Amino acid sequence: MESHIHTWLELLVRWAHFITGIAWIGASFYFNWLENHLDRAAQRNRDNIAGHLWAVHGGGFYYLEKFKVAPDKLPETLHWFKWEAYMTWVSGFVLLVLVYYMGAESYLIDSRVADLSVPVAIGIGIATLVLSWVVYDQLCKSPLGDRPALLAGVIAVLLVLLSFAMTQIYGGRGAFIHVGAAIGTIMVANVFFVIIPNQRDLVDAMKEGRAPDGAKGKAGLTRSRHNNYLTLPVLFIMISNHYPGTYAHEWNWVVLALIMAGGVAIRHYFNVRHLPEKKVWILPVGFVLLLGAFFLTMPEQRTAPDTDDSVEVDGPVETDVVWEIAENHCLACHAVDASSGGIAFEDEEDLERQARSIARAVGNHSMPPGNPTDMSEEERAKVERWYRDLQEQ
Ligand code: HEC
Repeated sequence: MESHIHTWLELLVRWAHFITGIAWIGASFYFNWLENHLDRAAQRNRDNIAGHLWAVHGGGFYYLEKFKVAPDKLPETLHWFKWEAYMTWVSGFVLLVLVYYMGAESYLIDSRVADLSVPVAIGIGIATLVLSWVVYDQLCKSPLGDRPALLAGVIAVLLVLLSFAMTQIYGGRGAFIHVGAAIGTIMVANVFFVIIPNQRDLVDAMKEGRAPDGAKGKAGLTRSRHNNYLTLPVLFIMISNHYPGTYAHEWNWVVLALIMAGGVAIRHYFNVRHLPEKKVWILPVGFVLLLGAFFLTMPEQRTAPDTDDSVEVDGPVETDVVWEIAENHCLACHAVDASSGGIAFEDEEDLERQARSIARAVGNHSMPPGNPTDMSEEERAKVERWYRDLQEQ
């Protein structure tokens, strides 16, 4: 019953996280798109209008104008976009607790990486989120803030360092999610601590009839640019737990760095696509980076990256031997009445049918999660050998 409640809590929170995330990123993509598609030429005779746009959607026509700075008089209702961002963070943090902190032994701690206790692992996780924001925020406020390109470069290097550090502390899956959670925290804190307060200052300035603080507007813009570029990396990390080939790879932090960089490059292409000095080569650069991750995670190198080569197994290995291994290490979660992730092993034929994914999951150490039953390298090598024997038949 308790585990059923946990599953449902997780289901509801994950669903909410997904919905609020779509609402937030969707609105942010939409405004970005607006900015890039405004018809600016037609507005030359109206001095406070920067551009306008016509759109048709859901059977209705929409007309929209952007002001150069602000309207002379504030409208009665002014819509803000902030709750989507806050709720995405709140639901994401609850999900982090439900999955990775309550299941720390399976999904966070990997004794082959570092033999942490549960409280220490969780403490490091939360400290990482807070510190990432503090360091990032201070960098933006430092003199580097006036040199956007250099600032972006420093942030990129720090993100790669964070990926490396996390993979030296946690198992791959927990490491990836913490990089994502750190990025997500930075993005939402940008909204909460900078973008919204600065926007509020602009509105207050208008009400009080004083000139708005230009520096604040500029800071808001920088942060929102950063958020824009961080979107694709963080979205990949949200789905990365479905791909053990990435997070359980020997060079998982390099794989993550390549995919994040690829995402940033692709985002950049879409940001500058409309500018006269557009740079078409950026898109191929993004794909080359992703291709790098593709080749790095090629199965030949990946099937058993960590299996100790010195472990020799005399073959052939029969399926009944593997069934015994599965009984000891897998069936607790993958029996017919406990099919974790929709995977169940009912009998030996079942094992043979799923031999490929079993060999992969065992070889890259993603299964059993956290290795609570101390599955040995020899047992992993036997599964490997069994899979190869099967293929040769
Ligand atoms: C503590 C529970 C647990 C144990 C023990 C366990 N698994 Fe899993 N397994 C899961 C869960 C949960 C999933 C669903 C995917 C996820 O959330 O990571 C999964 C997914 C899988 C998948 C599909 C995803 C993939 O990585 O390809 C395979 C294959 C798999 N397990 C094989 C095994 C094998 C083989 C063993 C034994 C050596 C094993 N598992 C032991 C919980 C477990």
